[in-house]
Amino acid sequence: MTLEHPLIPSASPLTSSLDGLKRLEDAGAPAVVLASLFEEQVDLQHELAESIRHQGAEAYAEAVSYFPPLREYRVQADEYLELVEGARRRLGIPVIASLNGCTSGGWVGYASRLERAGAHALELNLYHLAADPERSGAEVEQRYLEIVQGVRQQIHIPLAVKLGPQLSSPVHFVRQLEKAGASAVVIWNRFYQCNLDLEQLEVVPHLELSRSYEMLSALTWTAVMFARVGLDLAVTGGAHTVEDVLKALMAGASAVQMASELLLHGPERLSQLVLELGHWMREREYLSVEQLKGSMSQQRVAEPAVYLRANYLRTLQYGGERWRG
Ligand SMILES: Cc1cc2nc3c(=O)[nH]c(=O)nc-3n(C[C@H](O)[C@H](O)[C@H](O)COP(=O)(O)O)c2cc1C
Repeated sequence: MTLEHPLIPSASPLTSSLDGLKRLEDAGAPAVVLASLFEEQVDLQHELAESIRHQGAEAYAEAVSYFPPLREYRVQADEYLELVEGARRRLGIPVIASLNGCTSGGWVGYASRLERAGAHALELNLYHLAADPERSGAEVEQRYLEIVQGVRQQIHIPLAVKLGPQLSSPVHFVRQLEKAGASAVVIWNRFYQCNLDLEQLEVVPHLELSRSYEMLSALTWTAVMFARVGLDLAVTGGAHTVEDVLKALMAGASAVQMASELLLHGPERLSQLVLELGHWMREREYLSVEQLKGSMSQQRVAEPAVYLRANYLRTLQYGGERWRG
């Protein structure tokens, strides 16, 4: 996809309604990633349809109350299709739908419905916590590949895969994703950890918006993957300032996604960042984003080892000198 500029609003509450999407377009977004449709929502819709078919409409209320947490999700599967259709009608920019799941169930089939509803591209978020003691890392990754293949078979539009960082050999795995049909990877998913409430003795969800330093892992891996994999790279997580955006591009990203910064300061912050990016590039006589892209990737820096174990040793040496007693 060719975009006006590389700053894309990522999936968040801002991209879960037509009004939010319109505000982002007005603020200069070159494309939008819709908030996700979750596997659990698709499954729930399927369960409900089945229970109505087999037991009649009175089973509907019972089936819904059987899944109380799911009712709290923002939209249900059919509403999501309406969101995609509405966004497609109302916006002049590409609409990237987001499907979020991690099992090889029937939800994968929803991808073709999203394409038919008008999505220009699909982001597949493989958000998964691999806690099954019976399943090896290789098996988990094999399942990811099968999901990507399954989705690829359903659709013809570009397919981006949003990944978590827990991979034994990320560059190799991303190459496998490419073979499975992905057009891009979005790195990395931000894992939301649980917290413990010591008063109520409850496990509670915990959400803090990101900070710039969180981008460093994606930055490193983008720099290492650039020109070693054939698909496009997008960075998500911790992009707040124009400097963050520039670093991601120079590492090798084709696009930088943003949620926290836009949630904090509103969609209009995007136009400011785009202006700052243009200003920075003009001052330093960069003619295009393409010229920036990958200019500080591992392949282009004078000392490629600086991105790998050499960085570890240098960092420890620096720490030792700074904090030696
Ligand atoms: C409140 C909230 C809701 C989110 N919803 C989704 C979602 O539906 N699907 C998804 O793939 N990512 C979702 N994300 C993750 C963001 O798209 C993004 O990857 C993450 O916040 C890191 O980027 P940031 O540092 O720019 O916030 C959500 C993030 C926040 C804060």
